[in-house]
Amino acid sequence: MRKIFPAPSTAPEIGPAGDGDGPPAEAAVARLATLYAYPDPAAGSAPWVRANMVASADGAGSLDARSGGLSGSADRTLFKVLRSLADVIVAGAGTARAERYRPVREGEVWPQLRQGRTPTPPIAVVTRGLSISADDPLLTSAPQGARTIVFTTKAAPPARRAAVARYADLVVTGGDEVSPADLVAALAERGHRRILVEGGPTLLGELVTAGLLDELCLTVSPLLEGGHAGRILAGMPGVKPGRDGDGSRCGLSLGHVLEDQGFLFCRYLNVAG
Ligand SMILES: NC(=O)c1ccc[n+]([C@@H]2O[C@H](COP(=O)([O-])OP(=O)(O)OC[C@H]3O[C@@H](n4cnc5c(N)ncnc54)[C@H](OP(=O)(O)O)[C@@H]3O)[C@@H](O)[C@H]2O)c1
Repeated sequence: MRKIFPAPSTAPEIGPAGDGDGPPAEAAVARLATLYAYPDPAAGSAPWVRANMVASADGAGSLDARSGGLSGSADRTLFKVLRSLADVIVAGAGTARAERYRPVREGEVWPQLRQGRTPTPPIAVVTRGLSISADDPLLTSAPQGARTIVFTTKAAPPARRAAVARYADLVVTGGDEVSPADLVAALAERGHRRILVEGGPTLLGELVTAGLLDELCLTVSPLLEGGHAGRILAGMPGVKPGRDGDGSRCGLSLGHVLEDQGFLFCRYLNVAG
């Protein structure tokens, strides 16, 4: 893996980041952790909301209704680094269902990036109708220190709420849906200020529309999907103007681009700022 933008003043090589080269060297992981460091989460500072998404070169956000086929070994390494750096991982229920989400296991993060925190970050799932089953392993197999957090609404059936609350940290918000602002505020109240959103397109669109996304990490996969797959964002009426945008779309500022075997790893900042 190498850095290609901005033009590096020192050697661009980050080091082996893919399975083909064996496990990534500790030095490569440390360089990635530096490149993707969150702003200092000092007390009182605003939470930082980062999204990590993957798309094909023609913009598809899934292959056969899942994102795994778009990924590659370096992308999986970066995925693991970003999970390791996060206080909490947020996903919409559609993604949790499609991608069969489970609690993060200790082998799925780098312990050297978790010092001073729980060994693994918890998963937070957002669901209007509380579609997740109370005996779903995403809830039942989470470690005590990183119980899954379920955000839902008063529309969710009370019996189901009670069942889910036996295994998960249940947060019931007032409206017809979980407002993105309530979601971020509730996570920050729990001390989760380094927030990693892994999608999906509906939840991400809501966060962007609310002007709450600070950073988008986008992997561009070197393949063409060519079908009718959705994109990485969906349903964004009334998007707020970006900092440098034309008032009708979100402006993005390109932080850096890394490359590995044709995959591009783009870090955009100040999304809908
Ligand atoms: N390319 C990528 O990087 C990437 C990443 C993630 C997912 N994906 C793909 O995206 C597809 C899923 O898309 P999606 O748009 O359905 O995913 P999603 O945003 O994860 O899920 C949508 C669901 O999340 C819940 N939800 C979202 N916003 C809510 C809110 N404000 N309040 C309450 N509940 C809310 C609802 O769940 P309930 O129905 O339970 O009420 C809603 O049906 C899959 O094919 C997946 O593979 C791709």
